Amino acid sequence: TPLYSSAASDVYKRQVYDLSIIESQNKKLQNAFKNLDNYKIHFAAKSLSNISILKFINNLGIGLDAVSIEEVKIGIKCGFNKNEILYTPNGVSFSEIKEAKSLGVKINLDSLESIKEFSEHYPNHSISVRINPGIYAGGNEKISVGHSNSKFGIPEEFIEDLIKMDKVNKIKVTGLHVHTGSDITKNNQFEKGIKKIFSIATKFKNIESIDLGGGIKIPYFLGDTETNLNDYASAVQHEHKKFKNNTGKDLKIIFEPGKFLVSDSGYFITKVNYIKKSKNNNFVQVNSGFNHFIRPTLYNSYHEVINLSNPNDQKEEYTVVGYICEKDTLANKRRISKISKGDLLCFKNAGAYGFNMSNNYNSRLRPAELCIHNNSIKKIREKENLEDLLNLSLIHISEPTRRYAI
Ligand code: LLP
Repeated sequence: TPLYSSAASDVYKRQVYDLSIIESQNKKLQNAFKNLDNYKIHFAAKSLSNISILKFINNLGIGLDAVSIEEVKIGIKCGFNKNEILYTPNGVSFSEIKEAKSLGVKINLDSLESIKEFSEHYPNHSISVRINPGIYAGGNEKISVGHSNSKFGIPEEFIEDLIKMDKVNKIKVTGLHVHTGSDITKNNQFEKGIKKIFSIATKFKNIESIDLGGGIKIPYFLGDTETNLNDYASAVQHEHKKFKNNTGKDLKIIFEPGKFLVSDSGYFITKVNYIKKSKNNNFVQVNSGFNHFIRPTLYNSYHEVINLSNPNDQKEEYTVVGYICEKDTLANKRRISKISKGDLLCFKNAGAYGFNMSNNYNSRLRPAELCIHNNSIKKIREKENLEDLLNLSLIHISEPTRRYAI
């Protein structure tokens, strides 16, 4: 707490990451997967892509899951080994895929159309293919992406076409990939996906790896549901062994956690401007909004709020809202230790999809990012200023013209 409150006068909002939590989350994963002989963790850069954090994650021996050419380039800049960057785009132009190929990273395609174009340019090159398992799983509708109406992956009913293409177009499928959704609570949903992808893998003679995507659910509050990691790992191990016994092949298993590695490490801190009372609400108006922290409004997600300035007082009911000119409730009817004007509030679990989903709506500037590492706190991104916001704008309107004579 002193880290935040000592600098209270200049703090209006910050995004802070505790690197020791990323490290301990990584240990939990490694421990759960310790009985798998051949696996690799790739961090989902979409969840958090600050360069210092990515370098830290790279130093932990983790690879990268990149969704865009920009993430690929950032990953290379941060020192990730090119063959440990798996690029999984969705609906991008072929020129972007070509660029990724020329950079030498691994490619995972998710439509027959893009695979066909790829095979025409690069016959017999290894690719990985994202499959749509036809399973509805995820914390909410927006982040459930493995069902039959989702735009992601090759639907099961097209797998035979893919196999035919394998012969005609000379494609070499060496990897299969599945990502069903994010915040998956039910282990049986994971298990269904795991079983499905391993059974599909038997149809591909050049198969070397299976990527199980991300989606592990972490708890957002005490007593919240979470993925049972040991059950998840046992389900993978079971299918992995079965595959090995049936085919003699020891597939490499890839996991792509985003939230599991970084959600808990992140704190979003902002200051209270006013407490505004209405008949039914005790609104706490903070010096931020859904432009900085969009998960509560976009997904209705729950993030614990702590009053850093007065953590142990009596709890009262508050609705924490932002300053954006739209409804931007950040926490609804929450019991929080008594809040006064000027207090610093901290939103927990802001490490994943927090800063990375922030934007400049209402011409608001993004806050600084900081990290806590080895008992010291370091700035890892400057807060934006108005110049950053206007930097790319071009003015092509000449001097004002008066329409009316005075
Ligand atoms: N792999 C692939 C192919 C993905 O699409 C994703 C997330 C992940 C891995 C990492 O999933 P995770 O372990 O973080 O659940 N903005 C949303 C989440 C969107 C997830 C998109 N894909 C949220 O804040 O809940």
